[in-house]
Amino acid sequence: MAAHRIGLIGCGWIAPFHVAGLSQLGRRGEIVWVADPDEEHARTLAREAGARAITDYRTGLSDIDCAFVLIPHHLHPQVTVDCLKAGCHVLLEKPIANSLAEADTMIAAAEQNRRTLMVAYPHRYKRSFRLFKQAIDSGRYGRLIMLDSLMDDMVEGYLAEWMTRKATLGGGCLFSASGHQLDIMLWISGDVHAAYMVGTRGRVPMEGEDSAACILKFKNGSIGVARHTWASPRVRIWYTMEAMCEKAHVTLTCTPLGDQNTEGVRCRWQTRIVAQGKQDEVLLESDEGLDLAPEIEHFFECVDTGRTPETDGRMARKVSAVVLEAYRRAAADGANV
Ligand SMILES: NC(=O)c1ccc[n+]([C@@H]2O[C@H](COP(=O)([O-])OP(=O)(O)OC[C@H]3O[C@@H](n4cnc5c(N)ncnc54)[C@H](O)[C@@H]3O)[C@@H](O)[C@H]2O)c1
Repeated sequence: MAAHRIGLIGCGWIAPFHVAGLSQLGRRGEIVWVADPDEEHARTLAREAGARAITDYRTGLSDIDCAFVLIPHHLHPQVTVDCLKAGCHVLLEKPIANSLAEADTMIAAAEQNRRTLMVAYPHRYKRSFRLFKQAIDSGRYGRLIMLDSLMDDMVEGYLAEWMTRKATLGGGCLFSASGHQLDIMLWISGDVHAAYMVGTRGRVPMEGEDSAACILKFKNGSIGVARHTWASPRVRIWYTMEAMCEKAHVTLTCTPLGDQNTEGVRCRWQTRIVAQGKQDEVLLESDEGLDLAPEIEHFFECVDTGRTPETDGRMARKVSAVVLEAYRRAAADGANV
């Protein structure tokens, strides 16, 4: 299969993770250029990726067939639609957009131009979460009653100016980042019947909440709790997801062994899955961290076969719709910042 020709749009914090993911996939994709209006960002990533640096992505669209869109949230719609209209398939960093109307425009642009639009919710593609879901779906531990998740984040040394404003971020930490939990919950438990949230601003200088708790009732009767803070003094376990089933609790933990913000793609990780019923059972011990290779591989497979990505525009829209509905209720009750 011919290698895909890729342009990376946005050369900030997440971009080196995409470069590292692509390098694991060998000849599946070649990074032709990286684009950023900040020339220094573009040049630094270009060196790492062995690609050309450009400052305006629009000048490079005719040289590629796939665009990875890795930019601030308020810019997702315009840039994504530009890429789709130019005939490129798009892997877009989460969340899809700051409003559902913009998400609809992007989904329509993908359909009209017959191009793949996939939103990067990487966790469900990782080996650990595949195994976690299989363990629950197998029925071995009985019926799933509750999914309980905590993401413990510290944003010092990471928070860019656009993340501090609601107009550009789209909300607070729940909107920006809890999709990593909500996507997994919707994947495992299906459609949401009702969603609520409460939020507070602990110590991060931003307009939206830096800490939130979101509770979900699923149509299948089970419930979900997604807790998230960006105000952690020190990240211990970064991502915990516990599936409380009738016969056992199955817990996935993903722990950085260094400082993920400053070490970025060089940070090492430990991931474990343990089932605790009558006995303790270790289902997985690995060094998997924020590994984007599996999600990128899924994207290429969908582009090559015409298959719909698991996290296509419609799936990502569902995640954002849950958050926006929970925000609406919280605003009415004065329960967010
Ligand atoms: N999957 C994850 O775990 C994860 C983690 C962090 C960020 N993200 C997502 O990645 C995206 C980017 O976040 P980040 O942390 O890298 O932000 P960042 O602020 O570090 O980087 C954004 C970059 O985009 C550049 N940019 C702005 N306008 C541009 C344009 N028109 N064309 C090209 N580049 C442009 C900026 O100059 C900057 O270099 C967001 O959608 C964010 O939510 C995902």
